[in-house]
Amino acid sequence: MKKEAHITVQDLTMAYGSFLIQKDLNFSIHRGDVFIIMGGSGCGKSTLLRHLVGLKSPSQGRVFYGDISFWEADPFEQDRIMRRIGILYQSGALWSSMTLAENVALPLQQYTNLTPPQIQEVVSLKLSLVGLSGFEEFYPSEISGGMRKRAGLARAMAMDPEILFFDEPSRAWIPSAPDAWMI
Ligand SMILES: Nc1ncnc2c1ncn2[C@@H]1O[C@H](COP(=O)(O)OP(=O)(O)OP(=O)(O)O)[C@@H](O)[C@H]1O
Ligand SMILES: [Mg+2]
Repeated sequence: MKKEAHITVQDLTMAYGSFLIQKDLNFSIHRGDVFIIMGGSGCGKSTLLRHLVGLKSPSQGRVFYGDISFWEADPFEQDRIMRRIGILYQSGALWSSMTLAENVALPLQQYTNLTPPQIQEVVSLKLSLVGLSGFEEFYPSEISGGMRKRAGLARAMAMDPEILFFDEPSRAWIPSAPDAWMI
């Protein structure tokens, strides 16, 4: 049985201004697929992710969710699609002034009608799924890079998304501050 295409990338060209990143990409991702994109540093993996999750529009080409062309859809439709996805960013991208529990709770507070106790329950469940039970009240600066990545994963899963995007899920997070290298 032929599986239905979930995401289709059609003739996608990505560029920052006149700086071409990749040209004429074509591929489909089907329901139930685990789809992996590999390539050297700087080849455009994170940039491609940005095109798939609505953060950067293509220079040319289309990104389809089902039969809807994302970048040609109206904002309401785009928002509906975006609510179906969860994203784990390459750096974790947690809010540094918020605890892990507050970070994971944020999408639930913004996009659901759950009560605070219900949110707390979901937050505890998601943090336990990534092995971070007991770290609810820690701030991102108080945990390791790998733990930050896992907390980012808990946040990506907060809304039980249909599609999960991971940018470098297995690579250790490399801090840019020189003193952070001294371990
Ligand atoms: N905001 C930006 N403005 C201009 N150029 C950018 C921007 N972000 C990335 N680039 C450039 O686009 C290219 C692709 O970057 P990208 O971050 O997509 O690579 P990557 O494949 O994810 O690399 P890595 O494996 O190191 O994460 C790089 O040459 C980078 O310098
Ligand atoms: Mg990257």
